[in-house]
Amino acid sequence: MKGIILHGGHGTRLLPLTHTGPKQLLPIANKPMSQYALEDLRNVGIHDIAIVIGDIYPEKVKEYYSDGKQFGVNITYIYQEKPKGISHAIRLCKEFVGDDKFIVYLGDNVLRKSLTDYTKKFSSSGLDAMILLCEVDNPSKFGVAYIDKEDSMKIKSIIEKPKNPTSNLAVIGVYFLTPKIFDIIDDLKPSSRGELEITDALQLLMDKGNKITYDTVTGWWKDTGTPEDIIHANRLVLDSIGTDEQFLAEKDVSIKGNIIIGNNTDVSHGSSIIGPAIIGKNCKIGRNVRLGPYVSIGDNCTLENCNIENSIIMQNCKIDAKEVNLSSSIISHNSQIDGGTISKKSQLLLGERTHLKL
Ligand code: G1P
Repeated sequence: MKGIILHGGHGTRLLPLTHTGPKQLLPIANKPMSQYALEDLRNVGIHDIAIVIGDIYPEKVKEYYSDGKQFGVNITYIYQEKPKGISHAIRLCKEFVGDDKFIVYLGDNVLRKSLTDYTKKFSSSGLDAMILLCEVDNPSKFGVAYIDKEDSMKIKSIIEKPKNPTSNLAVIGVYFLTPKIFDIIDDLKPSSRGELEITDALQLLMDKGNKITYDTVTGWWKDTGTPEDIIHANRLVLDSIGTDEQFLAEKDVSIKGNIIIGNNTDVSHGSSIIGPAIIGKNCKIGRNVRLGPYVSIGDNCTLENCNIENSIIMQNCKIDAKEVNLSSSIISHNSQIDGGTISKKSQLLLGERTHLKL
């Protein structure tokens, strides 16, 4: 089997975080979100992966993943000049896929459960497609599947973002497909948002009598379209981290819960960290710092006099004002906060290289 990770799109709902890079490279628990997709594919034995890159800093994606060797896979990059939809992106991969079955993984989807069981089921079947469904509270934001009342394994229809959905089963962004889908996509018309929709392709595949089934997702699934989604995904991933016992034994700081701390990171006496939390390498956590719960701090950060919960601070950031209280915040790479005080717990969303003087 082969794998495809979609890494395009404009990420407008994530501005200002996406001014300087594609959304799929935004870190969740210190790892770009698309790396979770790549690792999920690799962990089911898929080593040939195409990454479809768009027009928002595609070179940053290539720089990070390079030829894939470092991640144990071979990567082929395919350009999608304009965001013309998921089906359009898939169609660009026809040559890459050849005669193989394949999995398409949206690079902004994060899934708790491994793909092992689903992949086994699909690869040994004669199915033309398999989708994964997850119960959600807000189905009108997703592709939605309607299941046949008489035959619970049969999908009746799949509709993209229905206005008044009567099913709460969202179609998640991991699709198990065969090359049959390419001819189907050739017959698609753009939707009202001007895209070739994956849901329309799946519906047409069914209409033409092909075999398609579904499985349901247990555990959580997150589509990370907004800053709130990213913070939530960070919480979900941090909930499943282990803890670094060695570090806890060596440091004399107040630490509770599961915490991972990178090499060469120094935490001053008098600081406290409440897990779950992750701190990267080469950080200096100075005095009067209270971190957590649910905080991710990237590599090479310096923090003083701050109280941060439920937030993501990316690499190379410096916070050394008099007093800074943050909650549900995302601070992008190479940003700095200094000067006076943010005395009340506040929410900040800072794009890359922001300098906030208080
Ligand atoms: C896309 C698909 C939608 C699916 C969702 C999952 O939506 O079109 O069917 O439910 O991904 O993340 P989009 O993110 O393009 O709005």
